[in-house]
Amino acid sequence: MANLKTTFAGLELKNPVIAASSGFTASPERCKKLEEAGVAAIVLKSIFEEQIAEQTQKWLGDDLGEAADSLAAYVRGDVLNTYINLIKSVKAAVSIPVIASICCSRLGEWSSFAKVIEDAGADALELNIMSVCTDKEYVYGSFEEQQVDIYSAVKAAVNIPVVIKLGQGLTNPVATVNSFYAHGARDIVLFNRHYQTDIDIENIKPVSGEVCSTPADICERLRWTAICSALIPSVNFAISGGVHSGSDVVKALLVGARTVEVCSALYKKGATAASEMLSGIEDWMNRHGYDSVEQFRGKLNAGNISDETSFERTQFFAAVHSNHYNIEY
Ligand SMILES: Cc1cc2nc3c(=O)[nH]c(=O)nc-3n(C[C@H](O)[C@H](O)[C@H](O)COP(=O)(O)O)c2cc1C
Repeated sequence: MANLKTTFAGLELKNPVIAASSGFTASPERCKKLEEAGVAAIVLKSIFEEQIAEQTQKWLGDDLGEAADSLAAYVRGDVLNTYINLIKSVKAAVSIPVIASICCSRLGEWSSFAKVIEDAGADALELNIMSVCTDKEYVYGSFEEQQVDIYSAVKAAVNIPVVIKLGQGLTNPVATVNSFYAHGARDIVLFNRHYQTDIDIENIKPVSGEVCSTPADICERLRWTAICSALIPSVNFAISGGVHSGSDVVKALLVGARTVEVCSALYKKGATAASEMLSGIEDWMNRHGYDSVEQFRGKLNAGNISDETSFERTQFFAAVHSNHYNIEY
C-alpha cells in the first residue's frame, strides 16, 4: 500500500488531504464524517472579526453611548465561548488533528483569543488575514506589513504552530512569504478564495458570485507554490483552491506542496470527495511506481525543472503559436 504520510504545521499527517475551513467543519458531526472519509486533519470554521462587529452592531443599533464598550466585550466573550465549545466538541469527536481558524484584518485582540483557543485544545491555529484595500492614500506594502504584525503578535501569544492562509491577488507572493518566513512563519496556505462578486442584470444589483471553485482555480496556486517552494524551501506549503480530485492533489504535491486544504469539492460531492481523492492519489502512485509522497513531492517545483520560466510565463504567445490549444490566430 502506498505511504501517503506527510507533515504540516508541526503535525504528522496520515495523508495530504485536509478539510479546509468552512461550514463543512463547523460541527462535530460533520467533522466526524470527514474523518471517516479519510481526511488527515480538519481546519475548523473560522471565528470572524466581522462576526463580532456585526453582532455588536445588531444589539447596539446606532447607540454608541456608555454601554457600547461593555456590550462589545460581552459579544466578544459570547462569540469566543461558542468557538471554544466548537473546538472542544470536535476534539472529543475525532482523533485526527484539529486546527482552529481566525479570520481577521486588524490587530485587535486576536493574540489573547489565540491563547484561549490554544488552551481549548486546538493542535494548531490558522490565521486567515483578508481584506479588500480601497484606501486612496494606500502606501504600497503596508497591508502585507500589517499581516506580518498580526502574525507576530499571535505567534508570540501561543506555543502551537500558527499557519498563515494568504489571500489571492498579492503583487509578489514570494516576497510576502519571505517576509512571514523572516518573522518565524513555517506553514503557509496559498491561497484563500475571496467572496466573489457578480451583477444581476435583470434586477440591476450586485449579487454573490459563484461560491464554489472549479478545477481551473488550481492553476495560480500551482504557479506560486512551484516558485515559492523552490525559493523558500524551509516553508511548508499547502494549496487551497481548485483541488477537486486525486489528480489535483498529485499536481499540488509535484509542485512542492505538503498538503491541500479542500472545501468546494466537499460542498459539491459530500465527504466522499475526500475518499475519492485518496484513492486517486494511490492509484497514480501505483501507476508511476512511487511508494511514498516524499519520492515525488517537489519534483516539478521551479528549481527542479529544466525550463524554469514555465511558471513565470504571463503571455499566451508561446502556447498559441505552438497551436497547443488549436486556436485560430
Ligand atoms: C462556503 C465557504 C465558506 C468558507 N469559510 C471559510 C472560513 O470560515 N474561513 C476560511 O479561512 N476560509 C473559508 N473558506 C475558504 C475555504 O477554506 C478554501 O480555502 C477556499 O474555498 C478554496 O478552496 P476550494 O477551492 O477547495 O473551495 C470558505 C469557502 C467557502 C466556499
